[in-house]
Amino acid sequence: MSTPAPTSSTTPAEKTASKPAREKALPQNTPVVIDTRINAFYYGSFRALRDVNLPIRERQITAFIGPSGCGKSTTLRCYNRLNEVGTPTKVDGQILLQGRNIYDANVDLVKLRRHVGMVFQQPNPFHMSIFDNIAFGLNLNNIVGDRKQIVEEALRGAALWDEVKDKLHQPGTSLSGGQQQRLCIARAIALKPQVLLMDEPCSALDPIATLKVEDLMHELKKQFTIVIVTHNMSQAGRVSDYTAFFYVEMVSGGRTGYLVEFGETREILHNPKNELTQNYLQGKFG
Ligand SMILES: Nc1ncnc2c1ncn2[C@@H]1O[C@H](COP(=O)(O)OP(=O)(O)O)[C@@H](O)[C@H]1O
Ligand SMILES: [Mg+2]
Repeated sequence: MSTPAPTSSTTPAEKTASKPAREKALPQNTPVVIDTRINAFYYGSFRALRDVNLPIRERQITAFIGPSGCGKSTTLRCYNRLNEVGTPTKVDGQILLQGRNIYDANVDLVKLRRHVGMVFQQPNPFHMSIFDNIAFGLNLNNIVGDRKQIVEEALRGAALWDEVKDKLHQPGTSLSGGQQQRLCIARAIALKPQVLLMDEPCSALDPIATLKVEDLMHELKKQFTIVIVTHNMSQAGRVSDYTAFFYVEMVSGGRTGYLVEFGETREILHNPKNELTQNYLQGKFG
């Protein structure tokens, strides 16, 4: 008699991924690197966010989850002031990076973005060699030191070195999608950021490449503080220590995102307090 095949809705990445972060006890009193105190955020006259108050803790991974359009990316981009590129924006509130408000008038945006690095949904290597993809940022930020050594360290840190060490002068765009994303991670960590932002970094990747990036995140966390936007709740469970659940409400014809609940990932995913979070996790809306 044959045994029925086990039924499972998990992807290969989910089956083999590292132990979920939620099973481990979180350290207490971890320092706060970013204190988010957004009362409201506007694109022009459109209020995209209200009431987002949460800490980003040192060397922890914080995940932002919630339905499309609830302001996850907008909140993330507040941390390096990327929202305001090309769009008039207004912030009512403060974002304190190591205690200093990054919305103060005299903040140097090049320096800010060096300290708060970003990886996007679509891998976006520059049209230059693998080596120069990393060296470019070092030059732009006037970082001194042996280029070869820093580039190698960054590529090792992004778990890419062994795959590219013999072709550093080939175009970054010649790599596979997963490798390109790790190159973008290498480019960001070469600058030793205080915080690394990742906006749905795996959504353009296949399950195997996704697994590599998730495993890499567990390694990166030893050195870096990470904030990840993900639409994939299992991913939040696998990689993150803390989770923020956002939702969006309709007010006078406009849609405004807000933070519903924030806490340890295991609590948010398994024992959420708010009914909206419970409904979202049960797939009642999307
Ligand atoms: N550059 C922009 N200009 C105007 N509105 C924007 C801009 N970027 C995002 N929005 C709007 O802000 C809201 C939140 O978007 P976003 O932060 O991208 O949500 P999420 O990442 O949760 O899907 C949406 O209504 C979106 O259309
Ligand atoms: Mg988004």
